[in-house]
Formats: sequence, structure tokens, C-alpha cells
Amino acid sequence: MEITDTLKRPLHDLRISVTDRCNFRCTYCMPKAIFGRDYEFLSRDELLTFEEINRIANIFVSLGVRKIRLTGGEPLLRSDIESLISMLSKNPDLDIAMTTNGAILAQKAQMLKDAGLNRITVSLDSIDDQTFKAINDVAFPVERVLGGIEAAKAAGLSPVKVNMVVKRGINEEHVLVMARHFRGTGHIVRFIEFMDVGETNQWQADDVLSAKEIADMINSQFAIEPVEPNYQGEVARRWRYKDGSGEIGIIASVTQPFCSNCTRARLSAKGQLYTCLFGTQGYDLRALIRGGASDDKIRAALIQLWEKRTDRYSEIRSGGSSDQPKVEMSYIGG
Ligand code: GTP
Ligand code: 5AD
Ligand code: SF4
Ligand code: SF4
Repeated sequence: MEITDTLKRPLHDLRISVTDRCNFRCTYCMPKAIFGRDYEFLSRDELLTFEEINRIANIFVSLGVRKIRLTGGEPLLRSDIESLISMLSKNPDLDIAMTTNGAILAQKAQMLKDAGLNRITVSLDSIDDQTFKAINDVAFPVERVLGGIEAAKAAGLSPVKVNMVVKRGINEEHVLVMARHFRGTGHIVRFIEFMDVGETNQWQADDVLSAKEIADMINSQFAIEPVEPNYQGEVARRWRYKDGSGEIGIIASVTQPFCSNCTRARLSAKGQLYTCLFGTQGYDLRALIRGGASDDKIRAALIQLWEKRTDRYSEIRSGGSSDQPKVEMSYIGG
């Protein structure tokens, strides 16, 4: 079955945040001033259980979803996450991916692969130790994340994608360092324009280094050329080094929005469903499930929600299309 929204976009991907907690305090995502010692994270019974997540995921699969990405916060902090992956991977048609900060990936990579994880993306904003420590704001050493990436490769989770959020004046001069480091390794670095997600990251338009600036910077050192997308609606624009030393991606959701192809739904750690990364209001699937709703009833609710979807925030970006606060990145996982 395939369902489409008001802009004729099908539902193909589900991003699932499995926890709102993270062991980093990246200054643009979970600033310490807000996510400090007294911050109240979700309690265990507020989180969806793995059984609940798996049940929801299977209903989504019956509606056409073929790709599931596990996110957080930091998804590897959710204990026994591999058992959720085992449940999901019973579904042979599903591509199961994860976006992690890589801090404890070295210990977990093989288990994740064995449980059925297909692909992994590691967030890494600089390979300069001092800059990386300043960004994660918990003095976490970059070597351990690099070790996690290599462990993922050794476990067969390759190619590993490496996400670098580029912020002007913070890590822009590390774009080339990053490109040079990962060229020829088989890993795919994706350079991401800094986005105005949530309400706490103090985004300003001046902070954004545009996709064009990023591509020009890389091309000035290492000649690159564009490559066709892997699939319609791919978030990253692909480029390859002309000398054959691999490919990179650039994610330009600010300067070249891709809402017209957006096929993604997002499930927060407490079971709220969002039809846009910049959503203000989630639909309470947890209440529906815990109220005893049947699969058919949940399926009908999802169809109704998707069929009336109108979201295209990045194409409009009116500087606040709603008076309501936008959901935070750590609840919805990007
Ligand atoms: P694959 O194409 O499956 O490899 O994954 P992905 O690039 O969609 O996922 P990833 O978690 O690596 O996200 C990369 C960046 O794109 C992050 O900064 C996300 O927040 C951003 N992103 C992903 N999906 C969307 C989207 O629907 N809208 C916007 N505006 N940004 C998105
Ligand atoms: N803009 C762009 N990307 C972001 N991420 C987190 N916050 C932002 C932001 N404001 C990235 C993370 C992770 C991915 C899911 O989203 O670094 O790689
Ligand atoms: Fe954690 Fe990722 Fe947010 Fe950094 S960007 S605080 S690693 S969830
Ligand atoms: Fe999809 Fe919203 Fe991102 Fe546009 S801004 S691509 S509608 S999630």
C-alpha cells in the first residue's frame, strides 16, 4: 500500500528517536545552559518500549515505509538497543540505519551488525581534538570516535557516513581537513548546513556556510564533480573526487531545500509522531497504543495524518511560521 500527502509525497521513511538523552552537550544541539544537571529527561515509562516501537514500525511498513533510521539523543545510550534492531530486522524489506555520535560505537559495532543493522552514520564535526572537544562540550576525545568509525567498518557496516555540521566561525576551516582525512578511506563525509532546528540552538542566518561555499572550498583543493542521487528525494547531494578517491555529500536544507521530495515521518522517544523536522505539534501515538487501540485503528490514524500533511518548512522558513515552539533536535533526532 502507498499513501500520499497533499503535495503527492509518499511515505517511505521513518526516523525513530529511541532516547532524549545524550552523553555529549554539543553547543548547537543540547547547550549546557539548558540541558544542565537539573534538566529533566524522560523517565523510563515515558519512553516507548521496544515492543511498542516495533509494533508501530510494522504498521508503518504496511503503509509503504522501507527505511528506518534510529536516532536519539544518542541511540546507543538506550540499553539493549540491539534487541530492537533484531526485532525490526525480522522484516526482510527494511533498510535499517542509525545515526550516532560514535562515542561508544567501538564496543557496539559488531553487536549492531549481528542484530541486523544495515548502515551507520557517525556525527563528527571536526577531527581536530581541541575543536571537537569544544563542540561536544564534555571534552570527549576525537580518537575514540575515529576508533568507532573503524570498528564499524571492520564489522561490515561500510561505507560509514560521517556527518559534519558546518558552522561559520566555529569549524569552517576544518572542512578541508575533514575532506583530506577521509579521502580514499571509503567513508563518505557529508557536510551539513547548520539548521534552525528547535528553539535552543541560537541559530542565525550568518552562521550558515552555504552548500555552494562548501563545494567551492573543497573543489579549490580537490577537484569534484556532481553524481546522480542514489534514490529520489535523497537528502544529500552527492559529489565525487575526480581522481577517484571517493565521494562526499552536501546537505543544503537551508539554501536548497528538499521539501518537495520529503517522504519522512518522525517518531519521538515518547511516541509523538511528527511529519516535519520543524514540527511544533506531535500526534500522540503512545496514548493511542496505551489506550488499547488495535493495529487497524492506528493504521487509520496514520493514513489520516499523512493524507492531510502539508509541511514544507524549509521552503518557507518564514522566521516562525507558527507561534508555537519547534520540537528540539534531542527529542526528534534530526
Ligand atoms: P541517508 O540518506 O539514508 O544516508 O540518511 P540521511 O542523510 O537522511 O540521515 P542523517 O541522519 O544522516 O541526516 C543528515 C542530515 O540531514 C541531518 O542534519 C538531518 O537533520 C538532516 N535531515 C534529514 N532529513 C531531513 C529532512 O527531512 N528535513 C531537513 N530539513 N533535514 C533533514
Ligand atoms: N543543523 C544541522 N544538522 C544538525 N544536527 C544536529 N543539529 C543540527 C543542526 N542544527 C545533525 C547531527 C546529526 C544529524 C542527525 O543531525 O550532527 O549528525
Ligand atoms: Fe548529542 Fe548529537 Fe545533539 Fe551532539 S548533536 S548533543 S551528539 S544528539
Ligand atoms: Fe521534510 Fe520538513 Fe525537512 Fe521540508 S523541512 S524536508 S518537509 S522535514
